[in-house]
Amino acid sequence: MTARIVGTGSYVPEQMVTNEELSQIVETNDEWIQTRTGIRSRHIATDRGTSEIAAEAARRALEDSGIPAEEIDVILVATSTPEKHFPSCACEVQAELGASRAAAFDISAACSGFVFALNVMYAFVKAGVYRTGLVIGADVLSKITDWSDRGTCVLFGDGAGAAVLRADELGIRHSVLGADGSKKDVLSCLSRSNGNVWMNKAPEMGYMTMDGQEVFKFAVKKVPECIRQLLQESGVREDEIRYFILHQANVRILDSVAKRLKQPLEKFPVNMDRYGNTSGASIPLLLDECNRKGMLQKGDKLVLAGFGAGLTWGAVLLEW
Ligand code: COA
Repeated sequence: MTARIVGTGSYVPEQMVTNEELSQIVETNDEWIQTRTGIRSRHIATDRGTSEIAAEAARRALEDSGIPAEEIDVILVATSTPEKHFPSCACEVQAELGASRAAAFDISAACSGFVFALNVMYAFVKAGVYRTGLVIGADVLSKITDWSDRGTCVLFGDGAGAAVLRADELGIRHSVLGADGSKKDVLSCLSRSNGNVWMNKAPEMGYMTMDGQEVFKFAVKKVPECIRQLLQESGVREDEIRYFILHQANVRILDSVAKRLKQPLEKFPVNMDRYGNTSGASIPLLLDECNRKGMLQKGDKLVLAGFGAGLTWGAVLLEW
């Protein structure tokens, strides 16, 4: 028995911000952003929080699956931008959906979060702990973005994606996850803390900081490496894979991974041109787009792969 994706959904906030608009805030231009990253625009959540957009994506995934919220056993939300230290974003989503039977908790693995969460669901189903679950990736990175830093603010966007999984004979076949905490400073964000009178401490504001080139080098090496390991351990060849649904960070990273795996670029769907890097949301957002466009046929083999802060990385092989 394994876990199978039986429905997908996604949501992006209404407000769209183009490269041109960003060039009025920081010294940048559309040509630089497009050629270095492949991004043309992104969506920014101006009036909705992470749990609201997560719940909206989840509602759409439930609708697609035909499974009522009351049948969900567990809700997992992969996010780096929950609105509160507690309760978790997953508990807020549970309340929004009325999924009263479900256990709910968040998973923190930055842009790899959705792949980590899928793996947790896979393990729950294989162990017979739960049968039906909602796995969500949702982030509002705009609230931890330093809008005066052109090296990061042009890259990210807000959004949410979700998948409903259910115990079945076919579905997730294998997964590989990894982390390297020694590289924790390459991409990081302090949590916001209040002043502490006993320690004579002033409030801290946390914004994302990143060594872009280090992240780039890590991604182009680690992602193909971990996909190769995933496929070797599963006895599946690269050319048997219908699509590689990769974390959407930079189109040059996708090009490089495709070359290293010796696979045509057409097998690597892209939507970062419209959404930027939406962190934990990027993989389920892309998966939902592929699903709704009718690109996925029953039995297709897909690889989902993510990478991000931690550093963390992971890949999942599944049959649609
Ligand atoms: N607009 C215009 N110029 C910019 C700019 C911007 N938004 N951001 C940086 N630059 C400038 C730099 O200041 C530098 O100028 P200099 O040569 O005068 O010093 C120049 O462009 C080149 O900068 P560099 O950092 O070498 O560019 P790059 O080719 O490495 O591209 C990234 C930068 C961030 C796009 C790239 O490193 C990247 O995508 N890294 C991975 C990031 C990522 O995916 N993070 C999320 C992981 S989940």
